[in-house]
Amino acid sequence: MKTVFSGIQPSGELHLGNYLGAIRNWTALQEEFFCYFCVVDYHAITQDCEPKQMKTRVFDMVSDLLACGIDPVRSVLFVQSQVPEHTELCWILNSVAQFGDLSRMTQFKDKSQRQADNINVGLFDYPVLQSADILLYNAEAVPVGQDQVQHIEFARRLARGFNNRWGKVFKEPEAKLTSTPKIIGLDGKAKMSKSMGNTIPLGATEKEIRKRINRAVTDPQREKREDKGEPDNCNVYSLHGCFSTDDDRRWVAEGCRTAGIGCVDCKRRLADNLIEHLDPIRTRKAELVANPDEVHEALNKGAEKARQTAAKTIGKVRKKLGLWQG
Ligand code: TRP
Repeated sequence: MKTVFSGIQPSGELHLGNYLGAIRNWTALQEEFFCYFCVVDYHAITQDCEPKQMKTRVFDMVSDLLACGIDPVRSVLFVQSQVPEHTELCWILNSVAQFGDLSRMTQFKDKSQRQADNINVGLFDYPVLQSADILLYNAEAVPVGQDQVQHIEFARRLARGFNNRWGKVFKEPEAKLTSTPKIIGLDGKAKMSKSMGNTIPLGATEKEIRKRINRAVTDPQREKREDKGEPDNCNVYSLHGCFSTDDDRRWVAEGCRTAGIGCVDCKRRLADNLIEHLDPIRTRKAELVANPDEVHEALNKGAEKARQTAAKTIGKVRKKLGLWQG
C-alpha cells in the first residue's frame, strides 16, 4: 500500500470549501492508501494566533475531521507538535534548503505582503517544515490544491539534495492534485474561504444554511424569474454538482435553461440536499464535542503511531550525518 501524507492548518471549524477541496478527498483516499493526516500547529504560529485559541482550534479541526469520516484506526491522525521529529528534521533540512529557492516561493511572497509587519523567519522556512512533515513518513503522494504544488516540488528537491549529500534516505513525494476544481464562493467571485465570508461552516444549522444559500449570487443573466439562464455559468449550479443526484441536476439545468424554475427553486433544492448531506456530520460532531476524551484518545493513538515511524527515519538520518550517538 502506498503512503499518503497531508496536512491542514488548525483554522478552527471546517467549512464547505475545505470539505470539497480537501477533506472529502481525504476520506476517499483511506480506501486505497495508508494515510497520515496531520493538523499542523507549528505552521500556524507563523501567522498571528492567540495561544488561547490554539487548543480550541485544534480540537475543532480534529473533531470535524473525525466527523467527516477520517478513521483514526485505519489512518494516522495527529497533531504536528505531538511529534518533535518534525522540527528536528526541519532543522537538518535547513542545511540542504537554498535561500534563493525559498525566496521564490509565491506563498511566502503573498504572505509577506499580507503581514508586512511580521515577516518572520518561520514564514520563510515554512516549506522546509512542510517537507519534513512529508519526508519523515516517506510519503509517496501528497494530496494538495494547486497552491501547494510549488511546495511539493520543493520537497522533492530537498529529498534529492539530502540523498545526494548524505546517502539515500528519502523518497521523492509527488503532488496528488485533488480532483475538485477550485470552489468559487457564494459571492460568485473569490475562492471559498472563511476570511472572505463566502462559504458555509460545516456545523451550520439548517436555518443558517438556507440563509446563506438564499443570498448566494447566481447566473447574472437571470435577473427576473422569466429570464433564461445558463447553469454552467452559475455558482449555485456548480454546488449541485457536488451534492445533488443526477436527476436533481438535470431538473435544475433544464429548468434554468427554459426558465421553468426560478433561482429560488434551485436554491431550495440545493439547501435541502446540502442539509441532508451535512446532517450526519453535524450529529457526529456534536457527539464528539460532548465526549472530548474520544478526540484526545484518537490523537494520542495517532501520535504514538506517527512517532514510531518518525523515530525510525530520524535514526537513519542521524546515522547518515554522523551525529553523536550516545
Ligand atoms: N501548507 C499546507 C496548506 O497550507 C499545509 C501543510 C503543512 C501540508 N504540511 C503539509 C500539506 C504537508 C501537505 C503536506 O494547505
